[in-house]
Amino acid sequence: MAGTMTDDAPLAGPAGPAGPRSGGAPGDPDGSPRGAGADRPCPPAPGPPALLAVLLSGTGRTLENLLAAIAAGDLHARVGAVVSSVPDVRGLAVAAAAGVPSAVVRRRDHPDDAAYSAAVYAALDAAVAPARPDLILLAGFLRKLVVPDDLLGRILNIHPALLPEAAAVAAGRGYYGERVHAAVLASGAAESGATVHVVDNGYDTGPVVLQERVPVLPGDTPATLGARVFAAECRLYPAAIRRHLATRPDLRDRRSGA
Ligand code: GRF
Repeated sequence: MAGTMTDDAPLAGPAGPAGPRSGGAPGDPDGSPRGAGADRPCPPAPGPPALLAVLLSGTGRTLENLLAAIAAGDLHARVGAVVSSVPDVRGLAVAAAAGVPSAVVRRRDHPDDAAYSAAVYAALDAAVAPARPDLILLAGFLRKLVVPDDLLGRILNIHPALLPEAAAVAAGRGYYGERVHAAVLASGAAESGATVHVVDNGYDTGPVVLQERVPVLPGDTPATLGARVFAAECRLYPAAIRRHLATRPDLRDRRSGA
């Protein structure tokens, strides 16, 4: 269905099941709250915020959205590090304005994708040492990452099309930005959307965490479809991060840096 997420999970932060709820306990005839702790387990403390690292290459709209979700209490997390593959992009200014340490790691300064990826991970780790990021988020990052075994499941990407449905026409190497939306329109699809997926060693091939669908409307251009998809992305990415953190509690085991 257009405009709805395909799935969602219990929230990891204080806004989810771990946080306060209103209304009476089940079975209360008048719905009034019972005494504290009468028949419900005490909600667990939310724990420290998840430590996020963000990779970008451009405008940083996705980083801005994540920072806004955190500020609004919709995401129990903090962004501890940003790496850009391109110098002087707006995304770096977004990081600076939020007080997030950032670094530029350029592909051309490294001999291959593996060496480049290792330099990116080292820059992220250095920014949050002695901790390590719980989760690395690709946010408009346009370089190939090689994912070592210890980071499998710890890196998420958001793609501005439906995966795997649109994989054959609008995903993979070279499909980013308005190229994706132009390809979806050219395919004649009635729907597009956004997908958050785990990053593996392919292009846009990892397991899907969450997806949100939007309609393709008569007269759409890549720009109008892109704006509709990006609005969906702003809902989807925070929800997918909450879901992933909630379903993969093992991701939090490196925060001490021990
Ligand atoms: C979005 O289309 C997103 O799906 C893709 O990068 C775009 C956002 O880039 N991964 P930015 O945040 O505006 O730099």
